Amino acid sequence: MHKETEHITELVLKAAARARAESAEAEDETRISGPLRWPLDCQIGPGLEGAIACESKVGFVNGSKGRLIYRGYDVFDLCAYATFEEVCYLLLHGELPTEDQLRAFKANLVSHRHIQATKRRLMGFPVEEMNAMAALRLGTLLMRQEFTFLDKDFGRPDIASAIGSDEDSIPMETKPYGERRAIYEFRGRWRRRTSLRSPSRDAVGLESCYRLIAGVSSLAAAIARIRQGHLPIEPDPKLGHAANFLYMLTGEKPSPIETRIMDIALILHADHGMNASTFAAMVVASTLSDFYFAVGSGIAALNGPLHGGANEQVIHTLHEIGSPRKTKAWCKRAIAKKARIMGFGHRVYKVYDPRARVLQPLAALASKSHREGARLFRIARALEKDVHATIGRKKKIYPNVDYFSGIVYASLGISPDVFTPIFAVSRVAGWTARVYEYLQHNRIFRPRAMYVGEFDRPYVPLKRRKK
Ligand code: CMC
Repeated sequence: MHKETEHITELVLKAAARARAESAEAEDETRISGPLRWPLDCQIGPGLEGAIACESKVGFVNGSKGRLIYRGYDVFDLCAYATFEEVCYLLLHGELPTEDQLRAFKANLVSHRHIQATKRRLMGFPVEEMNAMAALRLGTLLMRQEFTFLDKDFGRPDIASAIGSDEDSIPMETKPYGERRAIYEFRGRWRRRTSLRSPSRDAVGLESCYRLIAGVSSLAAAIARIRQGHLPIEPDPKLGHAANFLYMLTGEKPSPIETRIMDIALILHADHGMNASTFAAMVVASTLSDFYFAVGSGIAALNGPLHGGANEQVIHTLHEIGSPRKTKAWCKRAIAKKARIMGFGHRVYKVYDPRARVLQPLAALASKSHREGARLFRIARALEKDVHATIGRKKKIYPNVDYFSGIVYASLGISPDVFTPIFAVSRVAGWTARVYEYLQHNRIFRPRAMYVGEFDRPYVPLKRRKK
């Protein structure tokens, strides 16, 4: 690791020590992990809270401990010692790469950074008028056009070998023999491996993951440039993933400190259990659609302000508040209006989000040399105290990953409309890793809704309906 960035490693280790000290008493992990025996009995809340959709070895979130794990490794350790490329390899392959494997993987990503035809086609659309995430989604579909044969007849998925994709194989919604509970048909055959497992499809699958990880980064940078009225910048093969992304955004080679900060931010956002965008990507992939459509759906879901879109909203909130002196009154008004305070709260974490623990000192560091970033950071710290003292402690709402990330990016000179695309530049690793894993034992996702509407309503002809 670079000498200049050693103190960043110390910041991460300090954040890790604090998290571990505060969570010593928390829930034992063995109680909330381990193999499943279908069908399950589990309590499900609205928004599928508590529902278990599948098994996974990719990553794990312990919400009461504030612990995030990728393939068995604590995210704090990965932030302290690894690079984003190592983490991508880990998520996709299950193991940290050897030196040779990492060299080959990086070379592969470098070769996939070039998405000439995609960028050219993208520039034919009014990107500067589009939401950056809409343009990113469009870009992934244009990549699909550039790099696959899926729109040709011979490239379509083999429907005959698709498992569980027919409507009849879903759990029954009725109680055919008057049972007290619905009967679920869990057919044994869904466990059988699909043709996706065959060596040729495997190669295609992983290759698309590499292409998308490299390509989404090139796309996000190109979109940011086009929206600012500039031409996209060609990637620099000598730079690592994080440094090259910053270079393609700004046209300037980043310093080792800027590179390390971006690398850690990318590591922190790479995977996070069955979050909404990952689930969206997996639902699409489970129909035997493809990785490009799946990632496009992930991008669409990530855009929402309750998910990845929150990082941009946080900066707007901090600008709106304007000064650390005004946070108390602002917070009081927000609570009175029952408004959501962006960057706070989480479905899973009921303690401090481990990612925010790392991003907070990174925001402090990055904003030291950026006046506006430093001002936003002071407001954020003041607001955090006020939220904690009012609703935070009582409702277990703490800063989440989106609270400090925007201040980090703003302090690196990045404009707010690029914040959520940066989330996607990282999360594409988790989307592809989880989709790839799920497809090894694919079964189409198909939950059900409880019908609470009426029955047997007589049809009223148009002319006789009351105005
Ligand atoms: N501001 C104010 N109140 C909140 C907030 C918030 N940010 N988050 C949760 N609450 C309250 C909520 O009103 C509810 O109160 P009550 O029990 O009195 O009705 C209680 O806390 C539980 O909230 P919930 O709605 O059951 O929580 P959820 O699991 O459905 O939603 C969330 C999780 C992340 C959508 C929510 O916390 C939220 O809207 N946060 C703001 C948006 C945000 O920062 N999103 C980023 C999430 S983390 C990264 C990512 O996924 O991208």
